[in-house]
Amino acid sequence: MHRHLPWRLPQRTPTSNPASDALLIDRDMRTIEISQPGGPEVLRLCERPVPQPGAGEVLLRVRAFGLNRPDVLQRRGLYPPPVGAPDIPGLEVCGEIVSGDLGGAGFRVGDLVCALLAGGGYAEYCVAPTGQCLPLPAGLSPEEGAALPETLFTVWHNVFERGQLRAGDTLLVQGGSSGIGTAAIQLAVAAGARVIATAGSDAKCAACIQLGAEMAVNYHTQDFVDAVQTHTAQRGVDVVLDMVAGSYIAREQRCLAEDGRLVVIAVQGGVQAEVDAGLLMRKRQTLTGSTLRTRSVEFKSGIARALREKVWPWIEQGRVRPVMDTIFAAEQIVQAHQRMEQGQHIGKLVLRWA
Ligand SMILES: NC(=O)c1ccc[n+]([C@@H]2O[C@H](COP(=O)([O-])OP(=O)(O)OC[C@H]3O[C@@H](n4cnc5c(N)ncnc54)[C@H](OP(=O)(O)O)[C@@H]3O)[C@@H](O)[C@H]2O)c1
Repeated sequence: MHRHLPWRLPQRTPTSNPASDALLIDRDMRTIEISQPGGPEVLRLCERPVPQPGAGEVLLRVRAFGLNRPDVLQRRGLYPPPVGAPDIPGLEVCGEIVSGDLGGAGFRVGDLVCALLAGGGYAEYCVAPTGQCLPLPAGLSPEEGAALPETLFTVWHNVFERGQLRAGDTLLVQGGSSGIGTAAIQLAVAAGARVIATAGSDAKCAACIQLGAEMAVNYHTQDFVDAVQTHTAQRGVDVVLDMVAGSYIAREQRCLAEDGRLVVIAVQGGVQAEVDAGLLMRKRQTLTGSTLRTRSVEFKSGIARALREKVWPWIEQGRVRPVMDTIFAAEQIVQAHQRMEQGQHIGKLVLRWA
């Protein structure tokens, strides 16, 4: 049994010297667990031992952690952590390196890094594979840094590696105002591609345009297939980033240009879909998709290297920035999950430890 805590705690002041925090490793830390599958109220502040890094891993003192839609699915009991990952949710953090195996990554104890995790980010301390850490880009706060890993790793792999988006191509982003969508629009524009987005309100569409989309379609009031065909003079788009699936698949096929690529990253509209095999052949379409969390450390470290080379300069030049909806205190995790479930947010929800 882990010790459960009231939501309001006396504030613990971290030391200013992270090396001395290594002495904390025999101590407990505050963390947030899923007490049972259910709504936001099942999230519970508790104490657990500070985790220990192994070979190829570092211990981070977490400054801030990002909230992602997969956390909501995990909380509901629909997305169990992969084998070997902590049961504590949390796929991305920004924190200081306290100790561990720095490898040849060029990091030092005390560096602030953004890290992609398979779990365990909702905690004061977490263990991250060293290869999945990237330096906090200059000019970004730790809260902004915590908003980067899950979206950037996902978008890079799915849009640029699987989808093969190139300069001059056109990308259709479903859910353009989501954490993932706001990152996809900015990365595609920075890479010299044209972007069409969909979103569920006019305000969200306006946010997509502000980020660089040429056109944004309110999917409640407009048919996105007609809108795409009209906007592209019946040519269609080269890549679709889809987080809906279900009945969207056949409609997205009708949006694709010849040799177009359709990449599925979520199934909010259902897992069963009809495929137009005629269009698939005539237009030489590619249907693909992936999930990031279960991939190996080696695979994710490869994405981290690509991000550092291609995307980190864009961030430091100010061409790509995390879109921050709300920053909550970690103790407000229930409210943060409620905000995500209400679906009013634009961009990222992030929590920070006081
Ligand atoms: N495969 C992977 O590796 C991977 C990794 C991370 C995330 N994901 C998935 O990517 C999605 C976005 O994640 P997130 O953390 O950025 O969550 P989020 O901010 O909550 O985004 C969910 C988005 O889905 C959009 N959406 C729902 N139904 C739609 C529809 N019928 N048509 C168009 N858009 C629709 C919503 O748009 P409105 O609010 O405008 O309705 C919202 O923008 C989630 O489904 C998540 O599970 C996949």
